[in-house]
Amino acid sequence: MHKSPKSVLILNGPNLNFLGRREPAVYGSQTLADVEALCLRTCSEHGYALDFRQTNSEGMLIDWIHQAADLQAQGVLAGVILNAAAYTHTSVALHDAIKAASVYLIELHISNVHAREPFRQHSFVSPVANGVMFGFGVAGYALAIAALAKR
Ligand code: DQA
Repeated sequence: MHKSPKSVLILNGPNLNFLGRREPAVYGSQTLADVEALCLRTCSEHGYALDFRQTNSEGMLIDWIHQAADLQAQGVLAGVILNAAAYTHTSVALHDAIKAASVYLIELHISNVHAREPFRQHSFVSPVANGVMFGFGVAGYALAIAALAKR
């Protein structure tokens, strides 16, 4: 019997809908639609389905992390890649949600957050992530999918 592919859930937080026209010197000129297309190609190469989302709302990100726990319980989740954007540096609620969901999760940032302002150098996500990818531009999304496939 044919088994349906597991899904990679990619969650993008606030202001990432502005990718391409937002501080291009930091984040590059590709749009979020370009990133989604890259992720779709990379997921197909690795035999995964893709579920790619963006929200500006902290509560929505938390609801999606909870959904990821349900997907994992159903055996259909390959892992979560989370670019929580600015909520990375502020959200205890997101930290608690990831801890509660106990899903395999890669924290991702397009920019090298450690080479930027001091307030970006603390992450509430890192202590509850399985791995962290940052500083590779939008190529980091493809690298993170490859990392999931190597598990
Ligand atoms: C970001 C880095 C965060 O510090 C920032 O708030 C973002 C994007 C990145 O992808 O480099 O919005 O997560």
